Amino acid sequence: MKDRNRIEEEIKRLKKQKNAVILAHNYQLPEVQDIADFTGDSLSLSQEAAKTQADMIVFCGVHFMAETASIISPDKKVLIPDEKAGCSLADTINAEQLKKWKEENPDSVVVSYVNTTAEVKALSDYCCTSANAVQIVNSVPVEKGILFLPDMFLGAYVAKVTGRKIHIWPGECHVHAGIRKQDLDEMQNSHPDAEMIIHPECGCTTNLMYQATNGSSINGNGHVKFLSTGGMIKHVKESPLREFIIATETGMLYPLRKGNPDKIFHPARENAVCKYMKMITLSKVLRSLEEDIFEVRVPIHTALKAKRSIDRMLEVTN
Ligand code: 13P
Ligand code: SF4
Repeated sequence: MKDRNRIEEEIKRLKKQKNAVILAHNYQLPEVQDIADFTGDSLSLSQEAAKTQADMIVFCGVHFMAETASIISPDKKVLIPDEKAGCSLADTINAEQLKKWKEENPDSVVVSYVNTTAEVKALSDYCCTSANAVQIVNSVPVEKGILFLPDMFLGAYVAKVTGRKIHIWPGECHVHAGIRKQDLDEMQNSHPDAEMIIHPECGCTTNLMYQATNGSSINGNGHVKFLSTGGMIKHVKESPLREFIIATETGMLYPLRKGNPDKIFHPARENAVCKYMKMITLSKVLRSLEEDIFEVRVPIHTALKAKRSIDRMLEVTN
């Protein structure tokens, strides 16, 4: 504990000295979330980064998130405390693969989920998040074909809701794909009064979203919501309900419990843990500030093109 206090004090001192801000994703370790200036979902953190007067951003999350912060704030130095903190979903498609897919489907509009590299965003027409994917696809003229990537579960849901013919990249996140309908059925039986909250990347999603869209009840009390991690925090805070089943990475339970001590939360699956997110530790955050490592900088020509896909998303949703 003494060691942890010392590390925290040192982080605070260096943060002030270097005019740095610490951003932490909702899946980060509790002690990392506690030391952060802002916690949130992938996009809201980058938007927060753009607003601050800080010279330096220490991004406690995975690599594509730090890249997104750098794209939005090219004048700031962006650091990630562990350069190996990647994302299995973002890794399912690279720029070469996307170029080839586009050549095979000329005239199609490319809609990319935010979990993609800067190079892939630069080749995309629109970026989207789980919260606005339906809205973005609906904004594309009906005569246009759509290439949706990289998450197949989110893509299948969007195709179902919009009725659009969408080509979907067969990518998945290993953590979310591991949460199956059977897990939710078991949880529902054990906690019949709980509302189920599901991240749309879950392996159970296509089936459950299909049922929800068609009006059938998914769990005993008929309560089910599909939300991004930021959406989960907002929804739970405002909900009159007391008990929730959370179908996403288990780090999410920490901010939910911290912000709502009177409510009860159950993870849909105990072992839904993202090893990349957990690579960031307090000691690595300290080392990052001490040594200015590891810098994430997106080349300017890629950043400008990638930013266009994010700006186009914001134009549709704002
Ligand atoms: P959010 O944008 O909902 O925070 O999700 C990011 C992510 O990596 C989900 O696994
Ligand atoms: Fe990527 Fe999945 Fe980890 Fe999210 S939980 S950062 S999608 S590997």
